[in-house]
Amino acid sequence: MDVHDPRPPGDSGLVVRDLAVSYGPVLALRGVSLDVPRGSVVAVLGGNGAGKSTLLRAVSGTLRFHRGGITSGDIAFGGKRLSGAATSAVVAGGVVQVPEGRRVFARMTVEENLRAGALGAPDRRAAAEARREVLTLFPVLAERAGQRAGLLSGGEQQMLAIGRALMASPRMLLLDEPTLGLAPMMAARIADTVREINARGTTVLLVEQNAAMALTLASHAYVLEVGEVVLSGPAAELAASDEVRRRYLGIEDAPGDLAATGRAAASSRPVLARWSS
Ligand SMILES: Nc1ncnc2c1ncn2[C@@H]1O[C@H](COP(=O)(O)OP(=O)(O)OP(=O)(O)O)[C@@H](O)[C@H]1O
Ligand SMILES: [Mg+2]
Repeated sequence: MDVHDPRPPGDSGLVVRDLAVSYGPVLALRGVSLDVPRGSVVAVLGGNGAGKSTLLRAVSGTLRFHRGGITSGDIAFGGKRLSGAATSAVVAGGVVQVPEGRRVFARMTVEENLRAGALGAPDRRAAAEARREVLTLFPVLAERAGQRAGLLSGGEQQMLAIGRALMASPRMLLLDEPTLGLAPMMAARIADTVREINARGTTVLLVEQNAAMALTLASHAYVLEVGEVVLSGPAAELAASDEVRRRYLGIEDAPGDLAATGRAAASSRPVLARWSS
């Protein structure tokens, strides 16, 4: 994409350039470049094993816990280099990941989980402020403060996982499939929450298999296939593209459908960047 960014480099969001990641001999990402401008929500779509979680781990500095590593390329946030940084340094730099599978500390209480998240907070005042925000966003976490996290429902555990990440007052949140396995109503509530978190000023990189939901939240999206970006562009354009509709939204247009013809015409405009390997 040819996006002119008039902001000074220090004000830039997340910039990933030509990233390659491997787990031992397994090459999981290759030549991945992506931008998440400050204040935006950007989605990464793709099926199982496409490399979505690997991308987030590379950004959050957690690849080493999965026996993986960056083999080439660069990652920067707000003009500061993240590639090669320790997880704690990435958190201190304002980037916090909510891992796949809403991994809360099941035997700890809700309150203890939140306190664990506050370990990444810049200072006590920031932690107190973040706590107020989290409990406003998720009142159920205040109601269940003393309960063991493992007893919460799936949706509530996802709220806790997001709440715990917010305790570190991140400038950027990395969300790995936050709606996976949730009932549609709960998935919609999580989507609303992501919108609200973004509206309060946090930049969001959202990884999802639920393309329909992700494309309503994001301004831009990237499609990963077998470790490579195969398609990217404005979310609305991707949502209208036949290829995305067929492969990721499960929608087949009936022949002769006028609306579909219009959409096909729209999607043939050169708005989507395509890379061939
Ligand atoms: N710890 C690991 N060791 C070796 N290979 C791994 C490891 N984690 C992931 N991989 C491989 O890297 C590739 C990308 O996996 P990744 O988990 O990033 O995909 P994903 O898009 O998040 O998939 P899903 O939607 O299933 O979560 C896959 O081929 C996977 O088998
Ligand atoms: Mg994954």
